Amino acid sequence: MSLPRLQVIVGSTRPGRAGGPVAEWFAGYARDHGGFEVEVVDLAELDLPMYDEPNHPATGNYVNEHTRRWSALASRAQAYVMVTPEYNNGYPAVLKNAIDYLNREWRYKPVGFVSYGGVSAGTRAVGQLRQVLTTVKMFPIPDAVHIPFVGQSIRDGRFEAGEAAVGGAKAMLDELLLIVDRLIPLQLPAAGGENR
Ligand SMILES: Cc1cc2nc3c(=O)[nH]c(=O)nc-3n(C[C@H](O)[C@H](O)[C@H](O)COP(=O)(O)O)c2cc1C
Repeated sequence: MSLPRLQVIVGSTRPGRAGGPVAEWFAGYARDHGGFEVEVVDLAELDLPMYDEPNHPATGNYVNEHTRRWSALASRAQAYVMVTPEYNNGYPAVLKNAIDYLNREWRYKPVGFVSYGGVSAGTRAVGQLRQVLTTVKMFPIPDAVHIPFVGQSIRDGRFEAGEAAVGGAKAMLDELLLIVDRLIPLQLPAAGGENR
């Protein structure tokens, strides 16, 4: 039986970003966890323009090729982990843009977070993400990885995870797997009512 697919979405695109090493560490840890087929989705590579669809995404009526490509890519995951820094008390605009493009693709799927920043460890960014993602009917889970002063844990381009990060990653992956195992057999509809 094939494993459920987990997409690790890299939510920052800044040259020299910490998001690269952090996502690389988490994706490696998730592969070793063994519960998922892990796929990294790098928003820098996806390179979406600022939202430019004429129709509400809940219609699934996409006119742009980049949206259809993003829709097909996101659709094939059963769970997600968003790797996000904190920018000005929130999460990066590029991540909001990528979320807003889609709607039905996200529905009824669990999502966890790996956040990082300064003293707040990206927790304020995650608070905002949880609020937004429930609007597209995702299930944000409480278990998460929060990394304070991320720059201090990156050496030679590699993120060196401490005990708290490893513990958080294990709890989050276990929980995502539990939810995926219980939700998929329910065969929830891909499309519910409109949500504005
Ligand atoms: C525009 C901007 C705003 C930032 N605002 C915050 C903030 O509000 N809280 C925080 O803890 N760190 C903040 N930082 C520091 C970032 O969390 C840190 O630089 C992190 O490495 C950024 O992620 P990235 O390297 O993946 O782009 C900010 C950084 C940038 C570039």
